[in-house]
Amino acid sequence: MSATSMEQLVSLCKRRGFVFQDSEIYGGLKGTYDFGPLGIELKKNIRDAWWRAMVYERDDIEGLECSHLSHHLVWKYSGHESTFSDPLCDCKKCKARIRADHIQDGKCPECGSTDLTEPRPFMLMMKTNIGPVDDGSSFAYLRPETAQGSYLNFKNVLVSTARKLPFGICQHGKSFRNEITPRNFLFRQREFEQAEMQYFVKPGTDIEWWNKWKEIRRQWWIDQGIPENKLRFKDHEQLAHYAKCATDIEYEFPWGFDEVEGIHDRQDFDLGSHTKNQSKFDIQANVMKNTDSTTELSYLDVFDGNKTYIPYVVETAMGLDRAFVVLMMDAFTQEQLPNGTERIVLKLKKHLAPVKVAVIPLKRNNPEIMKMAHDIKDSLLKTGIGRVMLEDSGNVGKAYRRHDEIGTPLCITVDFDSIEQSPATVTLRNRDTMEQERIEVAKLADYLKDFFR
Ligand code: GAP
Repeated sequence: MSATSMEQLVSLCKRRGFVFQDSEIYGGLKGTYDFGPLGIELKKNIRDAWWRAMVYERDDIEGLECSHLSHHLVWKYSGHESTFSDPLCDCKKCKARIRADHIQDGKCPECGSTDLTEPRPFMLMMKTNIGPVDDGSSFAYLRPETAQGSYLNFKNVLVSTARKLPFGICQHGKSFRNEITPRNFLFRQREFEQAEMQYFVKPGTDIEWWNKWKEIRRQWWIDQGIPENKLRFKDHEQLAHYAKCATDIEYEFPWGFDEVEGIHDRQDFDLGSHTKNQSKFDIQANVMKNTDSTTELSYLDVFDGNKTYIPYVVETAMGLDRAFVVLMMDAFTQEQLPNGTERIVLKLKKHLAPVKVAVIPLKRNNPEIMKMAHDIKDSLLKTGIGRVMLEDSGNVGKAYRRHDEIGTPLCITVDFDSIEQSPATVTLRNRDTMEQERIEVAKLADYLKDFFR
C-alpha cells in the first residue's frame, strides 16, 4: 500500500532527515522548507534525471542558469506585474486572508464567518530592495518563474552556440511566490525549485511540438517509476496571460489529481514582449509601448528565404519539490511480512535512491568485522555509484529497517564468515525482495557498478 496521507510522508521526511521546517526553532516560517542530508540527495537525483533526459540524451537543448533577481522591467514586459495575482478575500471577523477560489459555501475556512470582503487582486511576486537607499525606487523582484531568464538570453544562447530552430533552453533553480495559502508540505510553498525548458520553434509548428512535448514529459514521469494510471493530462480552462494553450500533467495524490508539471504553448508572447519597439501586447488594456528593451529577440531563418521572425515557444515547467513529493509518495510502501510484522519501504528507482549502498557490520564490538566494514566502504566510495555509507547505529535488523525506509537498494553485511573464510565474502541484501546472497568482496565493486549502471 502506498502513502495514504501527506502526514505519513511528512513524518518520514522529518524522522529520517529528508525535509525540515525552515526556521523551526523560532516557530517556523510558513511556506519554506529545508532539505536535510537525504533530501538533498534525492532532490539532486531527480534534478539529474531531468537534466540527463532533457540535455544529455538529446542534442537540441542547452543549459542556462540565471540570477534570482532581475530588472523590474523584465516583469513589467513579461506581464507579471499587471496580471500575476490571486483573488484575495479578508475575513472581517478573524482577519484571515483567503484565496477567493479556496472559499467554499461563502464561508471563512478558519472561523466559518460569512462576513468576507469582496475579492481583490493580490500580487504574488516578492520584492526586495537593491542598493543602500531604501526609498522604494530601487527595487527588484525575486523571480516567480525561471522562464523569463531563458527568454532574455535567447539571443545570447543562439549566437554563442550557433543553434538553428528548433532548439531549447533548460534551466532549474529557485522561484519565489508570495502564495496566500501555502499548503500541503512542499506542494505549495513560497520558495520552491522549478525545472523548466523553453523550446523555440518556427511559428506554425508550435501545436505539433506542444503535443510532442506533452508525450515526452509524461513518459519521463513513467520512467521515474510513476504508474501510468496515476497520471493524466488536464487542459487549462483558464489560461495564464502568456499561454495560447496549456495542459497540466496531474498525479493522483491522496486528495485527488493535482498539477505537477505544465506544458504551455506561449507562442511569441514573451520574446515579443521583450523585443525592442514591439507594442503588440496589450495586457488587460494596460497598453505597454515596449520601447525599453534594446534588443530584437528574433531569428534569421536561412532555410526559409532569410526571413526574420520571432520564434514561438513551447514550455515544459516542472516543480522539483512537487516531483520530490510525488516520487516519495508513490514509492512509500507499507508491507505486511509473512511473519506478521510490517515494514515501511521506499521503493524508489535505484537511480533516485539517496543512499545506494549501506555497509553494515554485524558486531560493532568486533574490531576485525569493523575494520573489514570500513575497508569495504572506503573501497566503494570512488566507484562512482553514488552515496555509500557505513551503518553501525544499531543491530542488523534495525539497520535493514532504517535503510528500507530511506530506500537504500542494497545492504552489505559483514559477519563472522566474512572474516573467517577465504576468499572473503559478505551478504548482499536486496531492498525490494529482501533476498540475500553471498558475494566475494573482491567482486563487489564490479557487481555494484553493473547494478547501478
Ligand atoms: N513558467 C511557467 C510556470 O511557472 P506554473 O504552472 O506557474 O508555470 C510550473 O509553474 C510548476 O511549478 C507547477 O506545475 C508546479 O509543479 C510548480 N509550482 C508552481 N507554484 C509552486 C509553489 N508555490 N510551490 C511549489 N511548486 C510550485
